[in-house]
Amino acid sequence: MSYEFILVDAQVAPFVAKIQLNRPKELNALNLQLMGEIRDALLALDADDAVRAIVITGNERAFAAGADIKQMAGRTAIDMLKIDQFSTWDSIRKTKKPIIAAVSGFALGGGCELCMLCDMIVASETAQFGQPEINIGVMPGAGGTQRLTRAVGKVRAMEMVLTGKFISAEEAKAAGLVNKIVPVELYLDEAIKLASEIAGKSPIAVQMAKESVLKAFDTHLQEGLFFERKNFYMLFATEDQKEGMAAFVEKRKPDFKGQ
Ligand code: HXC
Repeated sequence: MSYEFILVDAQVAPFVAKIQLNRPKELNALNLQLMGEIRDALLALDADDAVRAIVITGNERAFAAGADIKQMAGRTAIDMLKIDQFSTWDSIRKTKKPIIAAVSGFALGGGCELCMLCDMIVASETAQFGQPEINIGVMPGAGGTQRLTRAVGKVRAMEMVLTGKFISAEEAKAAGLVNKIVPVELYLDEAIKLASEIAGKSPIAVQMAKESVLKAFDTHLQEGLFFERKNFYMLFATEDQKEGMAAFVEKRKPDFKGQ
């Protein structure tokens, strides 16, 4: 598939794919086509057995500076309703394989929401996170009031959403929004390293585990525990479970096949 606003490398490392947002002049502002391309690429990578983990990145200056304000500026509420852009976001959310955001520079508005839609975030020292929609007369619409609040807690989320102030990589790490901060020249390599580590595990177990962790956001504890239990039992139907446990007993490294 060819794309206009993203670059896809299906094997940036063994079993690891990379999607790079590629509208550098516009600081990777997320227009509808770009979001559609991310959705299409993720669908293809999710169906590709040679891919076990995915890294999404931008460039040094910007992961993404938000939804494309120029594209949105003249729209009415009815236009927005009809365009239904969030079905694309919902589809991205359904990606089964783990996604790691490698973030440098601006991750603002929809850009911050896109990295929160990923499963983990590796940030460069220069990363800045923010929900500045309030400055342009609106509010977050792709999860900023929900995922950010769950990630950093009410008072920090309120401050970010109501003042539009950015937080640094350090603050984001302290608040629990990002996994790791590394020097700017290393953020992508570090994200690929983390993806490679996960790609070495049983891909079915990884997918079930991801699904189960996400369930914690969607449901109450008892239902989440039942869901977790079912996935746990189901993994005993896989060859990877037999291989993983046999390898432990035999004191060797497991060789997971995704079966
Ligand atoms: C469209 C954008 C953009 C955006 C930057 N650009 N952000 N275009 N939509 N979100 C464009 C600028 O117009 C400019 O193009 C070029 O990128 C470089 O940006 P500058 O402003 O010149 O750079 P700088 O002075 O370094 O400032 C960087 C910045 C600022 C602080 C990130 O660009 C900024 O405040 N951007 C908007 C951030 C924002 O409000 N995001 C939330 C959007 S709403 P030209 O051609 O003019 O030189 C949102 C809602 C999500 O995300 C809802 C769900 C999808």
